Amino acid sequence: MHGIVLAGGTGSRLWPITRGVSKQLLHVYDKPMVHYPIATLMAAGIRKILIITTPEDHDAYKRLLGRGEELGVEFHFKIQDKPRGLAEAFLIGEKFLEEQKCALILGDNIFHGSGLGRQLMDYTNVEGAHIFAYRVADPSQYGVVEFSDSGDVLSIQEKPEMPKSNFAVPGLYFYDQNVVEFAKSVLPSARGELEITSVNNAYLEANNLRVSVLPRGTAWLDTGTVQALHDASSYIKILEDRQGTKVSCLEEVAWRQGWITDDQLSSLAIAYGASPFGKFLVSLLEDGNEREK
Ligand code: G1P
Repeated sequence: MHGIVLAGGTGSRLWPITRGVSKQLLHVYDKPMVHYPIATLMAAGIRKILIITTPEDHDAYKRLLGRGEELGVEFHFKIQDKPRGLAEAFLIGEKFLEEQKCALILGDNIFHGSGLGRQLMDYTNVEGAHIFAYRVADPSQYGVVEFSDSGDVLSIQEKPEMPKSNFAVPGLYFYDQNVVEFAKSVLPSARGELEITSVNNAYLEANNLRVSVLPRGTAWLDTGTVQALHDASSYIKILEDRQGTKVSCLEEVAWRQGWITDDQLSSLAIAYGASPFGKFLVSLLEDGNEREK
């Protein structure tokens, strides 16, 4: 399975912060926002990852991430020249996908929870589409799942004024190799975008969509507003300071996956110099290589 991180958009709800810099390059506590979704894909075992950016920010992402070889992964980059919707990712990524299955994650969505990576691994061999539902207090800004009394999915509505449940669809989606064809059949919505919700509804109509409710113990954080961004930073800070760990550290994920050796991790630590990140990577090796998950 290949992965796509969609890091386009204008980030207008964060203006003026995002007038000069891409939203997904802003920091969430101690690392760039885009590291979190990349870490989620890597934790699911996905090693070939396409980052889709705006034209202006393309070089900055390349500078930040490089080609990925020192993490044992491959980063590829493509441009979305206008924010024409999430489903356009599959059209932009058609060649990259090589008719493989695909996970799409939004560059501003943060997931955290015990055992989440292993859980996500189960979906990398998906037939049809597998998406998630997550209980939120106010679902009206998201795709919203309507369930029947027996728990079947009846519909998914994009940003409904009157949500039919409290279950929002987080920005992490697993699809089989038919997703490109489904995306090609989607028409622009009233807001002029190729909606991911339309792709999901197309799978639903084909009776090929599964929806798993993410457990309450999993955190799904959005970073679209100043308040949400601040909350996400606070969440990561509290966890990391309390536990002395790091959430979504790309080097750590690569090492725990066995994609890089202790020596390679040590070189990456040295490259960080005296920064707290470097010290953290050294501490992983000093902890007696305890590869706890
Ligand atoms: C997008 C999707 C929506 C989904 C949300 C998750 O919304 O359209 O269905 O629930 O991401 O973050 P947007 O980011 O375009 O507001």
